[in-house]
Amino acid sequence: MTTRRDFLKVCTVPPLLTAIPTPINAMIEKVLRLTASKTTKRLVPGDEYQDASVWAFNRTVPGPELRLKKGDTLSLDFINELDEGSSIHWHGIRNINAMDGVAGLTQPEVTPNGQFRYQFPLNDSGTYWYHSHAKTWSQVARGLYGPLIVEDESDPAVDHDIVLMIDDWLLANDATIDEASFGSLHDWTHGGRLGNWLTVNGESLPTIEVSKNSRVRLRLINAANARIFGLNIPASAFLVAQDGYPVPIQETRDVILGPAQRADFIIDLAEENITINETYNSDQPYPAVNLKVVDTTQTLVAKSPLNQPNLEAPPTLIDVTIPLHMQGGAMGNLREANYKGELRPIRELAQNHKKAWAFNGRIAEHHDHLANVSLGQSVSIKVWNDTRWPHAMHLHGHHFWIQKEDGVFLDGKRDTYLFQRGEKANLVFIADNPGFWLFHCHMLEHHAAGMGAVIQVS
Ligand code: C2O
Ligand code: CU
Repeated sequence: MTTRRDFLKVCTVPPLLTAIPTPINAMIEKVLRLTASKTTKRLVPGDEYQDASVWAFNRTVPGPELRLKKGDTLSLDFINELDEGSSIHWHGIRNINAMDGVAGLTQPEVTPNGQFRYQFPLNDSGTYWYHSHAKTWSQVARGLYGPLIVEDESDPAVDHDIVLMIDDWLLANDATIDEASFGSLHDWTHGGRLGNWLTVNGESLPTIEVSKNSRVRLRLINAANARIFGLNIPASAFLVAQDGYPVPIQETRDVILGPAQRADFIIDLAEENITINETYNSDQPYPAVNLKVVDTTQTLVAKSPLNQPNLEAPPTLIDVTIPLHMQGGAMGNLREANYKGELRPIRELAQNHKKAWAFNGRIAEHHDHLANVSLGQSVSIKVWNDTRWPHAMHLHGHHFWIQKEDGVFLDGKRDTYLFQRGEKANLVFIADNPGFWLFHCHMLEHHAAGMGAVIQVS
């Protein structure tokens, strides 16, 4: 899909030494606070470059790491110091609907100088993230996101627990944000707004210090608008969770993450430094982050074998099937679509309304319903990606099982599934959470251009 050139750095960068960011701990501060505002951030070092104007939570990109425990209640005041409306969505959390943070659906947008208190229980442990859910294609791209980690007593003991939040920025030649490309019709009808500068935790090729021979938990989060990442971990690495939920533990060094997807690894380091490379977007491995091993006096945890999780089995009977024929985009087969009650040629919809993708022949407004299901029903969204593009389909408020076209289920549950072009698969879930739940492509330009609708559970 992309060539190495897309990831060419605009200069050679000396590796940065990063301390592991200090998390905000809920036990210390009762009501947390996230303030969205404009600030600047140096994305590319060097005198010939400028600071970029970013939008950030608490003036850092990523926003502060929120680290809580399973069973805690997250209480947080969101303060909007931007000059447009915003909100915070807690991606992957089986939330109370009114706290889901979707501006215009589950709450009105928080207006400039307004504030909103989010308060909800954390019933599941795992790796989650938060991000703006208003004009996401612009606000998330400008930096409004951060990690949300929920720990559990039964998590395997590790020496270091490290979040790696991966993003790509589309920068102009002076390393400021490429403003002109926001809203590009080309991006909206193709693969989304892809960047040309890779950052991990907001830095280019950071170096993180870890103890020699230590056991490390790595929590990888793809925060990009549209970019798919492949990561390779050259160490004894075990994939333990995807999208926050456990998977059968297996030794693997590679993972592919669509936008919004997460993967947790437990890795056992030896005496050598390692470099985690990005492998999906170029023929050559592209260095993303260095783990530098240092001597330690600390006692290291025992590297005992990891216990296999008990996985919930998918339902054997499906109460409701929601057929979902996804069409549109460049080189697609969609000639016309229903938009605001009228059948119109897709060319006109693209040019005049920036709409390019349809579910079942219809371009939904963000609050339009795809289906209404009853509380407790088992539901299968029968998806056919009849487009020439991959799509990272995300369901709010629930995790789903994935049933491939041959009927076989993948292990574990996810909240986002990356459909390949032409792929058919069923997303199966128990509708156990009442409310209005968005189902959309997490390639944020695709969502803006029509790939989203609501499933109501009542
Ligand atoms: Cu990550 Cu609709 O969200
Ligand atoms: Cu998409």
